[in-house]
Amino acid sequence: RNIKLVEVRSELAAGTRGASLGIDALKVASLGKKSDFFTRFDPINVPDANNYLWKNNPYPHAKYIDGVHEVLGNVHDTIKALREEKKFPIVLAGDHSTAAGTIMGIKAANPEKRLGVIWIDAHADIHSPYTSPSGNMHGMPLGMCLQEDNLENRQQDPSAEEIEYWEKIKKIGGDFPKIKASDIVYIAVRDTEEPENKLIEKHGIRNFTTQEVRQKGITQISEEALAILKDCEQIYISFDVDSMDSSISVGTGTPVPDGLTVQEALKLNMELIKDKRVCCWEIVEVNPTLDSENIMAQNAFEVLESTTKSLVSNF
Ligand code: ARG
Ligand code: MN
Ligand code: MN
Ligand code: MN
Repeated sequence: RNIKLVEVRSELAAGTRGASLGIDALKVASLGKKSDFFTRFDPINVPDANNYLWKNNPYPHAKYIDGVHEVLGNVHDTIKALREEKKFPIVLAGDHSTAAGTIMGIKAANPEKRLGVIWIDAHADIHSPYTSPSGNMHGMPLGMCLQEDNLENRQQDPSAEEIEYWEKIKKIGGDFPKIKASDIVYIAVRDTEEPENKLIEKHGIRNFTTQEVRQKGITQISEEALAILKDCEQIYISFDVDSMDSSISVGTGTPVPDGLTVQEALKLNMELIKDKRVCCWEIVEVNPTLDSENIMAQNAFEVLESTTKSLVSNF
């Protein structure tokens, strides 16, 4: 497949500073492993908006939403153009909000094709400014794509200006839901809030827990996950490194125990990406400033390199 590496040094939507350095930490890790991975690609750089960090930001229920709106628009434009050229984007990003821009771009390039999402993460990331306990927008990308405010479970009172930006974000790539809730499959999700649980229950979104992955094994979990998406014509895989266990590394903004091992994460992504419908893969949330010895980036780089190899050798 025609792979294109996309770099998005986003970090506005994370609660802790430093995720924009994740891509360069992956590059440092590749050098440490004497891998030629990064010499094989000529990456596209999506403009970030990290200058917003130095501006006053009066949006407590959707932090830096003005900057996040700008970045997601940029991600959408890049991914849409690549998909129109039938390229396979491998997206290296900072905070996970960018996944919404990726999904919006995939959908905008082929609006008629039903899009499924495999979300490998400790978190469900399905909040809105009306429900988020933190206001950190990396917890909202799936809410954006579903155009889901989840007002039945409202906890917060966003301002008119926050709502105005939120409405604009949901319309990037067209004013319609980019995915159906039932076309989301979660893997390793284990740290959610009540408004998210209500939505997951309401739509019957399937989550394969770490324990289930271990019991059934990677092959079976992959088959089951892909079977749920049997009616989808395209699939996007989003890999948040905090899906891996917090004992592996705390080099990510929101580490959580009871996650996948590096080998489990690696094999899972290698297996899933063999499906011909997969059209984009994304890795997010490496934050080397929270780490020592760049451990998270080293582990994440292994997953990145193995997954890319699997993609290349299976086509
Ligand atoms: N659910 C929590 C929140 O909304 C954590 C979200 C973490 N998301 C992530 N992409 N790491 O604040
Ligand atoms: Mn997460
Ligand atoms: Mn409030
Ligand atoms: Mn996430």
